[in-house]
Amino acid sequence: EKGGYDHFMLKEIHEQPKAITDTYRGRLLRNEALIKMAGIEDNLNKLLNANRIIIVACGTSWHAGLVAEYIFEDLARIPVEVEYASEFRYRNPVITENDVLIAISQSGETADTLAAIKLAKSKGAFVFGVCNVVGSSIARETHAGAYTHAGPEIGVASTKAFTTQVTVLTLMALRLAKAKGSISNSDFHRHLLELELIPQHVENVLKSDSHIKSIANTYKHSNNCLYLGRGYNFPVALEGALKLKEISYIHAEGYPAAEMKHGPIALIDENMPIVVIATKKGHYEKVVSNIQEIKSRKGKIIAIVTQGDTTVKALADHVIEVPETLEALSPLLNTIPLQLLSYHIAVLLGKNVDQPRNLAKSVTVE
Ligand code: M6R
Repeated sequence: EKGGYDHFMLKEIHEQPKAITDTYRGRLLRNEALIKMAGIEDNLNKLLNANRIIIVACGTSWHAGLVAEYIFEDLARIPVEVEYASEFRYRNPVITENDVLIAISQSGETADTLAAIKLAKSKGAFVFGVCNVVGSSIARETHAGAYTHAGPEIGVASTKAFTTQVTVLTLMALRLAKAKGSISNSDFHRHLLELELIPQHVENVLKSDSHIKSIANTYKHSNNCLYLGRGYNFPVALEGALKLKEISYIHAEGYPAAEMKHGPIALIDENMPIVVIATKKGHYEKVVSNIQEIKSRKGKIIAIVTQGDTTVKALADHVIEVPETLEALSPLLNTIPLQLLSYHIAVLLGKNVDQPRNLAKSVTVE
């Protein structure tokens, strides 16, 4: 069942090249310079005329929503708000008929997300679902949607569900950007081209497995870990920290790198590992100066860098290289080493990776 892997989580991490391909198959038509998604085509006007998009989700799916906020605003120029479903449903939110709600859920059964959908529907909003499980409650309760096609995800720690959610949301944003004319034809084409290359890039990142395992071995006894990223990769930092907490029980925090000096910098000493997403596109110079600040306080740096990087390599204690891609697609690659890092730490500590204590695969009670 585990296809030769020790754990479902590892199998699912390795399935990502295929899962991402399955997600864009039939939707990304590069030769025709088209993105075709039935749920979008059928509701194009509603989506294009939306005053704003409200994204609701929980946990890892909420992190995918945060990535989508950057993509939708950047490419499609539609204002986006991302909310924890549990907070949204109970705070008497302002929702109108001109709002579009996107609910993201792997299982399609998360109680708070389902309740947020019902609330938005009762106020007349158009509700779009991004689910993995076909025929799930959320898939049925929404007006339209797009499946992620990741295949079954058994490990409690979500991996391929996340990258395929980001893939679907990227396709949606590109489709809307094209319809709105907020992206040039050449930029649109470039995104299609680069998106098609993502599975082989992920394959490439997966080859760093034993290198990542040795980093995991160095830091497995840490009590804390900080994850930093900026822009598109700030949500990736949050996701990296969540993965580590869930399966290794090591306390971890994700932060926007620039927020470090507003508090968490006080935590940094020679015992603190700090994972920094420092790939070339997107505020690279600023991240480099964040790294220098950490170094001068003796923090241990594990940096995710673009292949061939030399600047960060000279500063960091460890680097993990990922292939170059477009900034909007970089979360799809930068997430992979963070999944492997938490996986290896948890395994080295002898934890139950696939079924961590206190956690359920889908949270059907609030
Ligand atoms: O099935 P859903 O995507 O709605 O689940 C949401 C969260 O419960 C889920 O992502 C949770 O945070 C995972 N354990 C993360 O690895």
